[in-house]
Amino acid sequence: MKPSTFTFITKHERETKEFAKHLTRVLESGDVLALEGDLGAGKTVFAKGIAEGLGVCEPVNSPTFTIVKEYQGKIPFYHLDVYRLESVVDEPLGFEEYLYGEGICLVEWASRISDWLPDDAIEIQFLVMADTHRKIKLTTVLPRVINWCKDGWNHEDFSD
Ligand SMILES: Nc1ncnc2c1ncn2[C@@H]1O[C@H](COP(=O)(O)OP(=O)(O)OP(=O)(O)O)[C@@H](O)[C@H]1O
Ligand SMILES: [Mg+2]
Repeated sequence: MKPSTFTFITKHERETKEFAKHLTRVLESGDVLALEGDLGAGKTVFAKGIAEGLGVCEPVNSPTFTIVKEYQGKIPFYHLDVYRLESVVDEPLGFEEYLYGEGICLVEWASRISDWLPDDAIEIQFLVMADTHRKIKLTTVLPRVINWCKDGWNHEDFSD
């Protein structure tokens, strides 16, 4: 499978959240979202949108000090932040139950556990363009996600 990359721009935190929420329409149990981007780029904001789309009622915060937080939505949502690992790890550290679990798994700073990610993980990179502008680069091999990207995400289409 050949990966395809698509680029999106959001102009407000709210748009990043809606972008993520809209993406959940095509996500399936077992999907892994591998997030990259500098501190404050928008990874956790995106995670909040995914949680909202999955019907998680609990507030989602950065799990930096716990590494993993599990939420119950329509399907389980696993939020991992592996920033604290600081360098690329060469041991699996027990994350497989989330990476290969029954829910949707989102990993902030995913390159630190790159060896453990499934081949079809959806890579999402956040770039700070300006105060409130973010470039989001999404790379995937999954046809349903490619189709979602091609259909064009329209930030005015907030309806379900
Ligand atoms: N278009 C945008 N999309 C997302 N966040 C934005 C946008 N514009 C401004 N922001 C602000 O950028 C910050 C993003 O913070 P967030 O916690 O999501 O970053 P992060 O990538 O998770 O950082 P960390 O690596 O520290 O966990 C928030 O303060 C948010 O309000
Ligand atoms: Mg974060």
